[in-house]
Amino acid sequence: MTGKPKAKRPDSAPNGAANPMWGGRFGAAPADLMAEINASIGFDKRLYREDIAGSKAHCAMLMRQKVIPAADGAAIQQGLDRVLAEIERGEFVFDVKLEDIHMNVEARLQALIGPVAGRLHTARSRNDQVATDFRMWVRGALERTDAELRALQAALIERAEQHVATVMPGFTHLQVAQPVTLGHHLLAYVEMFGRDRDRARDCRVRLNECPLGAAALAGTSFPIDREMTARELGFDRPSANSLDAVSDRDFALEALALASIAAIHLSRLAEELVLWSSTAFGFVAFSDRFSTGSSMMPQKRNPDAAELVRGKAGRIGGAFATLSTTMKGLALSYSKDMQEDKEPVFDAFDSLSLCLRASAGMIHDVTVNVDAMARAADEGYATATELADWLVRALEMPFREAHQVTGRIVALAVERGLKLEQLDLDAMQAIEPRITAEARQVLAPIKAVEARNCYGGTAPAQVAAQVRRARERFL
Ligand code: ARG
Repeated sequence: MTGKPKAKRPDSAPNGAANPMWGGRFGAAPADLMAEINASIGFDKRLYREDIAGSKAHCAMLMRQKVIPAADGAAIQQGLDRVLAEIERGEFVFDVKLEDIHMNVEARLQALIGPVAGRLHTARSRNDQVATDFRMWVRGALERTDAELRALQAALIERAEQHVATVMPGFTHLQVAQPVTLGHHLLAYVEMFGRDRDRARDCRVRLNECPLGAAALAGTSFPIDREMTARELGFDRPSANSLDAVSDRDFALEALALASIAAIHLSRLAEELVLWSSTAFGFVAFSDRFSTGSSMMPQKRNPDAAELVRGKAGRIGGAFATLSTTMKGLALSYSKDMQEDKEPVFDAFDSLSLCLRASAGMIHDVTVNVDAMARAADEGYATATELADWLVRALEMPFREAHQVTGRIVALAVERGLKLEQLDLDAMQAIEPRITAEARQVLAPIKAVEARNCYGGTAPAQVAAQVRRARERFL
């Protein structure tokens, strides 16, 4: 390269191109690529409500503690309200150069009220600010998740009540095992989603400590009142250690863990609906509202919503893997890696919400083919255990032996292409002479179901009791 070397910028030169929030010691603006990799405003603008609430609480505390003059504090509060209104009206212009939501809000505040806006950041850092905002956002997401899980439970309980006595095959290994009732099956999911709600509430309890006042990492020399800001923002207490407060994201990991577990539960329900709606099963039919057609095959009704609920479990679990890998091995306290915490959490909870609402809709709408279920329960030797149990009860046979005898009878029925109850008594007696006609009466699926009348069992009477208890516990 020829030409004169560029003149060095004199120390007194204006650095107008540098970031107005932290550009003091900088001579030039960041490279475009630096700005691009650094900016989080594209996604963290979702935190604007939490950010402004946090700033207002911080400002009120600074005023009360006389860290900032009351008049300045009042101007800041009013300015923040105006910023909030601008964002809600969609008028706010987010600027990538201002990196993130915190600096976008503060810069706009400055434009609105002038240099007093600069007092807001006293005794605060973006490190405690973002930790506080994010905790509040996750807290809201947990509360929404709880409400959406409850709505899904309500739909399942309602359908369970309609089907306390609807007999269907129960499966293990996806092989017909024993008859159960559809109500019982649906209530199994109500229990799973109930535990998911417990996990969301537990997570909220641990999450609900306020990082504000931790400042960058070490706390602050200003006489702040951390109890006050914590209370104002709905936290139970200020976090006990300022380093921990700005460093950890375990609350987000825990939220993602419970979201992943809920998504796994949803995916199993979705998979069953997909199977059950197939021509081979024919147990249920989706409403038009929750199925799609094929652009090529006119006869098709595809369970796309259920398939997507099943599929999204992958990305929700993936969000946990993403954030846990990001956090692993980070030295205390804040590192910019942690800016990567938000997108997986936003995406996971958006996806989970969609899945929960779609599942409730599908369950509410789905048509049950009671006859197809009854027919399937009547096939596959689902009541073989009944015969074995009868041998134990009536003949006082040890269960292992009864199992053997029944196995031989089933094999014979299979060989002759008959159902168990179609096999004549002579044929059974050829295998076990003490079998009487009474034994054949236990072979009807409804009898098998009614017999399982223990607490938590599949008998219609038990399922009706479970429906009652589920309403009390969950709705
Ligand atoms: N946008 C940042 C984040 O989401 C805010 C905190 C930045 N803190 C800092 N010291 N640069 O993590």
